[in-house]
Amino acid sequence: MNALSADSSSVIDALTAHVALIDGDGEILAVNLAWRHFYDSNGCHLPNYGLGCNYLELLAPLAAQAENPAASEDNRIARTVLEGLRSVLDGRATRFQLEYPCHAPHEQRWFLLTVTPFAPGYRIRAVVSHENITALKQAEERTRMQALRVAGSFASTVESIALAIEKRDPYTAGHQRQVAALAGEIGRIMGLSEERRFGLHLGASIHDIGKISVPAEILNRPGVLSEPEFSIIRQHAQTGYEILRGIDFPWPIADIVQQHHERLDGSGYPLGLHAEEICLEARIVAVADVFDAIISHRPYRPGHALHEAIEELQRGRGKIYDSTVVDAGMQFFTEVSPEWHRLHRETNLPIPTLQL
Ligand SMILES: [Fe+2]
Repeated sequence: MNALSADSSSVIDALTAHVALIDGDGEILAVNLAWRHFYDSNGCHLPNYGLGCNYLELLAPLAAQAENPAASEDNRIARTVLEGLRSVLDGRATRFQLEYPCHAPHEQRWFLLTVTPFAPGYRIRAVVSHENITALKQAEERTRMQALRVAGSFASTVESIALAIEKRDPYTAGHQRQVAALAGEIGRIMGLSEERRFGLHLGASIHDIGKISVPAEILNRPGVLSEPEFSIIRQHAQTGYEILRGIDFPWPIADIVQQHHERLDGSGYPLGLHAEEICLEARIVAVADVFDAIISHRPYRPGHALHEAIEELQRGRGKIYDSTVVDAGMQFFTEVSPEWHRLHRETNLPIPTLQL
């Protein structure tokens, strides 16, 4: 501890993190008590706890192997730490941090490495600290597993609802699957988080659930519908909302269902919402819904051509349909194979598993 006064030594010895103080070349000038205990209990073999050794030179041989195809995780961590240490010592970074695993034969452990530059005017140039964060990582893992279980329960709930629709109305079931797949792709292109896309997919999978209250003879009747018949069909968005609003989903599922026929200019239903009043997920489902409805075959008419659906969305871009959503949709519609639509409709795809 000759680089430090007795008082300073006491201060770093009181820390629970393993701390080393290094100079501008990477030489280890001082280490604290926790560092020495860690060395003793883990059978580390550097003389004098590494004092006088060069931290950069200790890492260099391990880091050099990182490019090797057979490199281990330790090699990659060493390279990252070496680069981080150099960036702080060179003044290119004000701090470097890395969470890394450091598993022992008898336990799984994680540490948080923090490299902080030391105040100018001293031989010490950086403080290297390794904090044991195993308890925190284990808590994170428990939370992640719990969230996965909850997400699985919600997905099962939605699958059951979708199955109930399928039994009565196979067309709507196929349409919902297709819209869910399309909406998910649009969400991916828009950069939505995986967790948000999962909710989007669930909502889209049952967006027409309210149609179970529409008589089948109206739902599938060819020809022009009367105004009272249209009025009954339009009720499905609000009916779906009322069916779902009592379920406490962590995603806006009931809102997606209620708002998927809303339009940016307020001309939609059931509430006549405008622009941002419509939740983003519902704006995405709206575009996917219109696209699928136009190109799908119905018992009383063949599906329209892909370009007709694209033209409809382009006509309404920024007026009734969200322009960002339409642009993402265009990117997808023009990228994919023409077979994509048929495959998704005819395959009973399970709801994807949420990866957290
Ligand atoms: Fe609908």
